[in-house]
Amino acid sequence: MIESLSYIGFTSPRASEWEELGPAVLGLQLAPRQPDGVIRLRMDDAAYRIAIADGPVDNLDHLGWGVAGPAAFEAAVATLQSKGVTVTREGDDLAARRCVVDLASFCDPFGWRQEISWGQACRQHTFQPGRPMSGFVTEAGGLGHIVLVVPDLARAEAFYMGVLGFRLSDEVRFMGLKIHFYHCNTRHHTLAMLEMPGVTGVVHLMLQVASLDDVGTALDIVQRRGYPMSMTLGRHANDHMVSFYFRTPSGFDIEYGWGAVEIEAAANRPMLYDTGDIWGHHPPEDGMDLPGILRPVPAV
Ligand SMILES: [Fe+2]
Repeated sequence: MIESLSYIGFTSPRASEWEELGPAVLGLQLAPRQPDGVIRLRMDDAAYRIAIADGPVDNLDHLGWGVAGPAAFEAAVATLQSKGVTVTREGDDLAARRCVVDLASFCDPFGWRQEISWGQACRQHTFQPGRPMSGFVTEAGGLGHIVLVVPDLARAEAFYMGVLGFRLSDEVRFMGLKIHFYHCNTRHHTLAMLEMPGVTGVVHLMLQVASLDDVGTALDIVQRRGYPMSMTLGRHANDHMVSFYFRTPSGFDIEYGWGAVEIEAAANRPMLYDTGDIWGHHPPEDGMDLPGILRPVPAV
C-alpha cells in the first residue's frame, strides 16, 4: 500500500531554530515561507520533506506516506475502511499546504496521525543544499526513516504490517531492548519500532547523505555548535549505516548517516541481531536520555 515516507511534520516551541539548524547544520534547504508560517525544509526536488510548525509542545504532528497515484490512493482508502480504520478525506486547503494532489488522514492505534497522499509537488533541478554537501539519498526510498516507541509490538504490527503493509526487515535485541525494522521500498527500513510498555514516542528521524564526508562534516558542525550528542559515530549491524545521533531542540534525535545497504524485498529473510552495532554508536557516559517525545498510552 505505502510506497515511501514522502513528508513528515513536527510541532515545537523552538520551531524557529530550524531556520538555522536545517540549512547550516543538516544541509537542508529552506522552502519559501507560506502564510501559515511553518518552516518547511527541502532535501531534494520535492517541494519540501520536513515541516516544523510552532506549537506548545514537542510532538510528531503527522507521518506523510506516499502512494503510487490516484488508483492506489482510492484502493488504500478502501482497504483502510474495510479494516475498520476511520479515514478522513482531506480538502484542497490541506493538500495545498502539504504540496500534494490529494490526501486522506487517519490515526494509528496509539494516536499518531497518519496521512496518505499522491502527487507530491516537485520542481526539477532546483534543490540547493543549505551548506556545501553532496546531497541526500531520497527518490523512491522516501525521505529517510522514523523510529517510534510503541507499548506493544504485536498491536503496532497488526496496524503497520497488517493494515499499511509494511514488511519486517530485521529484529535487533540488545541492552534489554527489542526493536523491529520494517521496509516498504528498497530502503532497509523506513519505519522501526522499539517496545516500551505503557508509553509511545518518537526516538529519531534518519536522513541519509550521499557521502561519508557529509557525515563527518555534519559531526564537526554539531559538536562545534554544542548540540547534545545522543550516540557517537558508529556503524549499525543490520543496515550498515555509518551515522551519529544528536538531540534537536524539538525533542527528537536526528540520525545523520551514509552507506546503508538496500533491501531486496522479495529476497529478504528477517534476521535476529544481538547487537545494534558493528562498532561505535556509544551513548553519552552519563547514560542515554529518554526520548524527548514520549507519552503514556492507556492499556486496552
Ligand atoms: Fe535509525
